[in-house]
Amino acid sequence: MFFFGKRSQSVNMDKNTLPVHIAIFLDGNGRWASQRGLPRSAGHREGANNLKKIVRYSHEIGIKYLTVYAFSTENWSRPKDEVDALMSLLLEFLKNADKEIAGKNIKIKVIGDSNGLTEDIKKEIVRVTENTKNNNGLTLVIALNYGSRSEIVEMVRRIAIDVKKGGLNTDAINEQLVSNYLYTAGLPDPDLVIRPSGENRLSNFLLWQSSYAELWYSNILWPDFSKKDLLHAIEEYQRRNRRYGGVGK
Ligand code: FPP
Repeated sequence: MFFFGKRSQSVNMDKNTLPVHIAIFLDGNGRWASQRGLPRSAGHREGANNLKKIVRYSHEIGIKYLTVYAFSTENWSRPKDEVDALMSLLLEFLKNADKEIAGKNIKIKVIGDSNGLTEDIKKEIVRVTENTKNNNGLTLVIALNYGSRSEIVEMVRRIAIDVKKGGLNTDAINEQLVSNYLYTAGLPDPDLVIRPSGENRLSNFLLWQSSYAELWYSNILWPDFSKKDLLHAIEEYQRRNRRYGGVGK
């Protein structure tokens, strides 16, 4: 049992049945900023700061994988100054990641199409991935220039190339093989997907991987999403009966 201030605010979370993999939409930064008369970029900065807090806390309570939707293949259509602000925030986040989060035994992985990212960012991705590859606590997966549909197209293209080269037999194509050709190869599927800020969409995020995920929506804007909100989402996940198409317990 975790207590937050008053006893009435306690959260009943079972440490033994935690979701292994949680995926989060970092949504609502723009609205958080507008509500305060600030530029949207200030909301993204606050969102990035909140992410650090939630990553450290997730690690502390024993979550093994956390995937966050930082920038989608569709986000390039935003105004140039917002895209630039997001890219410099991402660069800064990656540069400081070893010191601020990875030092806590956190492994960092980035998924998405690296084409289209600047050389600076690509270099940081390689560096931070290499520097944290032996950490065995939580794995933070940053989805950057990520879109499920383009991931699926890329998977099909790579399978076709391997079949054409003769190294892969079409009879060997099954669900496991498809998973192995996605950016998320080697990662377990998400158990719980959290979408704050009142949006109830999938927005091209982990469509294949989230087939059996439990979804948790809330009106809280991402910069306000607290440790307690995370525990509430986990608690609700633990109350659900995952049936995987069967009849359940
Ligand atoms: C969508 O909601 C959010 C994004 C497109 C960007 C999320 C990125 C960050 C929080 C910062 C960078 C990430 C990392 C990993 C350092 P929105 O903010 O556009 O929300 P709105 O619907 O309120 O406008």
